[in-house]
Amino acid sequence: MTDLDIDALILSEHEAFRRAFAALEAVKDPTELGRRWQELADQLEVHAAGEEQVFYPELLQEVDDSEGDTLHAVKDHNEIREATRAVADHEVGSAAWWEAFRTAREATVEHLEEEEQDVLPPFREQVEPSQRRALGERWLAFQDEHARARGLSGDDVDPDAYVEEHAS
Ligand SMILES: [Fe+2]
Ligand SMILES: [Fe+2]
Repeated sequence: MTDLDIDALILSEHEAFRRAFAALEAVKDPTELGRRWQELADQLEVHAAGEEQVFYPELLQEVDDSEGDTLHAVKDHNEIREATRAVADHEVGSAAWWEAFRTAREATVEHLEEEEQDVLPPFREQVEPSQRRALGERWLAFQDEHARARGLSGDDVDPDAYVEEHAS
């Protein structure tokens, strides 16, 4: 595995998300907190949308019995989207805001672990290194194009329709 394989890029973003969530817990200034939360929320959407555009279609094509994991992942992405949107309903730094923040954090961390345990290992085993590298390039291009969630709706994705569209 090289650093530019898509699975390595995904993993390093997962680690960055864990660090960012932990770091936010220590931010006291509401302006700073609001700004950094927005940045993290945008990155979570770029990550989820990037996986839906670049990673999961390949998983469905190349990895045996991946429909269930994909369905589950898209549902998780929607749950994270919903939890992330819910944070914005509260005054930044208030008790209700922190509660919503922690709900989003838990939903995210649980999903990252599931991808790392159930999804990435069979992908690495069944997809050729050259292909993983090529997908890594597409992943980085997607990140560039959609930095700060530019051009992404943030809308939920219908899990069943998604799997039906990409598994053939
Ligand atoms: Fe994901
Ligand atoms: Fe992920």
